[in-house]
Amino acid sequence: MDYRELAKIAVEKLKFSYTPYSGFNVAAALLTESGKVYFGVNIENAAYTPTVCAERTAFFKAVSEGERHFRAIAVAGCKRTYLDSDEYKKGLLPGYTAPCGVCRQVMREFCDPSEFDVILVRSYDDFRVFRLEELLPESFGPENLAGQLMR
Ligand code: THU
Repeated sequence: MDYRELAKIAVEKLKFSYTPYSGFNVAAALLTESGKVYFGVNIENAAYTPTVCAERTAFFKAVSEGERHFRAIAVAGCKRTYLDSDEYKKGLLPGYTAPCGVCRQVMREFCDPSEFDVILVRSYDDFRVFRLEELLPESFGPENLAGQLMR
């Protein structure tokens, strides 16, 4: 599984987002160290704040299946209406979608920031790769609570 394939999964899963309120679909494909892929989409809610982002859906699916070691996550996003366009059918998105701050912090919980890659996808052939530490510098993580950890 290379990053191009991971990017392709993220673009393809955009149709599964549940976005009646924002109309903005996001999908994420999370690659484990063992080569397995978990995908997630954003799932909105009439009460707004229960909305969960695509990246967190992917992480929580994976962690709840026993996964703890991750290599990379590919993130793709676009307006829901864009999914009907010819450009989308060719696998092209209008722009890159970066993970929100809360999702970066969830990644930080389970990943080494100097090793984990975050892939912002515009198409199967057009994506930008960042190390988590670039997107979340000087971060707070489990090591900060060393001695009090229960995991
Ligand atoms: N969203 C994500 O799924 N991931 C992000 O990192 C950014 C925001 C979703 C949340 C909401 O459903 C929609 O995009 C608009 O904010």
